[in-house]
Amino acid sequence: MNQHPKLAIIGFGTMGQAICAGLVEASGYPAQQIQAADCHPAHAKVRAEALGIGLSKDAEAAVKAAEVVLLCVKPKDLKDLLAGLTAAGALDHKPLVVSIAAGTTLAFLDAHTPEGTPLVRAMPNTPCSIRKGMTVLAPGKGVSEAQLATARALFEPLGRVMDLDEKHMDAVTGLSASGPAFVFVILESLAEGGVQCGLPRAVAVELAAQMTLGAASMVLETGRHPAALKDEVTTPAGCTIAGLLALEDGRIRSVVARGIERATQVAAGLG
Ligand SMILES: NC(=O)c1ccc[n+]([C@@H]2O[C@H](COP(=O)([O-])OP(=O)(O)OC[C@H]3O[C@@H](n4cnc5c(N)ncnc54)[C@H](OP(=O)(O)O)[C@@H]3O)[C@@H](O)[C@H]2O)c1
Repeated sequence: MNQHPKLAIIGFGTMGQAICAGLVEASGYPAQQIQAADCHPAHAKVRAEALGIGLSKDAEAAVKAAEVVLLCVKPKDLKDLLAGLTAAGALDHKPLVVSIAAGTTLAFLDAHTPEGTPLVRAMPNTPCSIRKGMTVLAPGKGVSEAQLATARALFEPLGRVMDLDEKHMDAVTGLSASGPAFVFVILESLAEGGVQCGLPRAVAVELAAQMTLGAASMVLETGRHPAALKDEVTTPAGCTIAGLLALEDGRIRSVVARGIERATQVAAGLG
């Protein structure tokens, strides 16, 4: 398959647009190689035009012409979508089908596509739109190394990519796909703390965001445990340990961890 296979993005909402923007704007994927389809194309017309990609209502035509099909509809819409595509023979040429639907298993996808359709389950996140994404891939049974490499090549320009066994996909969804929303709330809270202590809001938001970026980058770039990095900031009898103890009084660790657990449980029931 060539470096930029003909790609159909089915469902051009939040994630379809985020992935498409990352591909076209940030990684130079040729816009003329991408055709999107959405139930209500008028909603995303301006975005599609800005990216230079084709967008219509016709998912069948987009899939028939594609070498790779990226399914970006909600889990509840997948069954009808796949039934329609299968009935129309749109998958008969066996394109590589990559689904990003939360909670939707490879077994479900297999049962609702023509026999032998190569399937990959992917879980990206919204930071893919600015090439800071995290995507986890789980290949279906019949997927070759070359096909998995094609799926990987689609997401690699958008951030980090990891292959994992499918059994981890719901936890991945709860942590790295829902996670940006949790971090935005935490960032907002950090900024509120700054505002409470007299910082102008815009300054507080910038400090909170750059600090979070720096701290996360230290974990990724040094490979060191977050606890060791935390200890280095924590001078005996200093201000950081005082702040940490206040956070522990509010049970910050279990509150955040339970949030991931809850999101994982709900993700598992979405398919
Ligand atoms: N949002 C995230 O951060 C995130 C992260 C990782 C994975 N995901 C997964 O990504 C998928 C999409 O999520 P999203 O947040 O992007 O949802 P979204 O914004 O609702 O986008 C889905 C789009 O698909 C359209 N659609 C529905 N059925 C269709 C069909 N048969 N043919 C063509 N288009 C169709 C919808 O149109 P209507 O609105 O008119 O129905 C909507 O515009 C979900 O399965 C979700 O689990 C989301």
